[in-house]
Amino acid sequence: MFPTVCSRRFVSPSLFSQAVPLARDSSPVRIDRCLCCEVSFAAARARAERVGAVSLVALQSHMDVGTGCGLCHPYLRRCLRTGETVFTSILEEDDEPA
Ligand code: FES
Repeated sequence: MFPTVCSRRFVSPSLFSQAVPLARDSSPVRIDRCLCCEVSFAAARARAERVGAVSLVALQSHMDVGTGCGLCHPYLRRCLRTGETVFTSILEEDDEPA
């Protein structure tokens, strides 16, 4: 069962920025979910496949994901485009534009 209600907890950008130094140091970093909504990219991809959503906006009409800080948007867009669900480098908006 997929979570359908986003907790909409505030996730400080500092949580994400903590991962940046790890990536810059070539240390392993694993990004696999929307932290605000506590939804894994794998769950988002599965829902997208089930409902035929090919865009983030379309997916968001079927589940609460990416509705908080928005830092996961480039990851979700890449997930929808390529099927990747685990990322080991930092993506920014320009890396996966809407
Ligand atoms: S991590 Fe904040 S909306 Fe996804």
